[in-house]
Amino acid sequence: MNYIPTLLAVGGGFWMPERASTFAQTTDRIFGFVLWLDVLFFLLVMGATTYFAVKYKRRGADDRTSPIRGNHRLEILWAGIPAILLVVIFAWNFDAYMRQKIAPANAIEIGVVGQKWSWGITYPNGGTDSNRLVVPVGEPVRLTMTSTDVLHSFYVPAFRVKQDVLPNRYTTLWFEATEVGNYHIFCAEYCGDNHSYMIGTVEVVSRERYEAYLAELGGCGEDEDLADCGARVFVRAGCTACHSDDGSPRVWPTWLGLWESERQFTDGTTGTADADYLREAIMDPNASIVTGFMANQMPTYAGRLEEEQLQALIAFIQSLAN
Ligand code: CUA
Repeated sequence: MNYIPTLLAVGGGFWMPERASTFAQTTDRIFGFVLWLDVLFFLLVMGATTYFAVKYKRRGADDRTSPIRGNHRLEILWAGIPAILLVVIFAWNFDAYMRQKIAPANAIEIGVVGQKWSWGITYPNGGTDSNRLVVPVGEPVRLTMTSTDVLHSFYVPAFRVKQDVLPNRYTTLWFEATEVGNYHIFCAEYCGDNHSYMIGTVEVVSRERYEAYLAELGGCGEDEDLADCGARVFVRAGCTACHSDDGSPRVWPTWLGLWESERQFTDGTTGTADADYLREAIMDPNASIVTGFMANQMPTYAGRLEEEQLQALIAFIQSLAN
């Protein structure tokens, strides 16, 4: 599986993933502060409990507790100190939260679409890719995200950012990457069978490489074979999440040998997988469901693929004919 090398490539230590955004250090400091404060209070409370349990153990039948009416100084201390600590934790977190919520005005705007089970990325020049988010280092990036089906959650541990991605609504998330490298994108919300396959990569690169990547993302090349271009669209549009091109089984039918094969549909009719059928299956996936598969599982690509990309995909499927 092609995601395993990226899994192994992730750095970081036993305790935390590597820090690769401007938020990471603050988030880790707050986490560390709360954690070690908890450890301190745990030891104080458990230590005092143990000490008192031993010291004031009932020694005999005539052992009586001495009457205690309270100690105001002690009570003010044990209410006041934790209250001050809570205010400190709140203020620190609130400040960090607001910084994470309000993106700088000059941020690069990138669109993200969650779908079962991949991440679609749309760049400012209209180029699209799948499961691969390329960003320049040292520049703020703002993601505007939505979902075509169910609730997903966009999570980049190395950046310490996570945001739910919902259908019929836009959510946003911003970050500024500080280190060149590859980092995981996880889906952090159970969204169906292949939730765990919903893994992408953020590639943090130099400004020059970012621009070169954007230029390359456009449509098919002038002299490019249409089927070769379709092979790229196959990966970039996220088709690989559910379809294979080598006959191996995935959620949906493999594309190997699909071209002009006979299709049996759940409504009892049959058809041939020609260009018209493939076009309909991509743009209106619920029009005819192949026997053995469920309706409402594949997202529509209407509005997401250009005509050229659609033709390239069909040419690619044709090149995989038996
Ligand atoms: Cu998408 Cu889990």
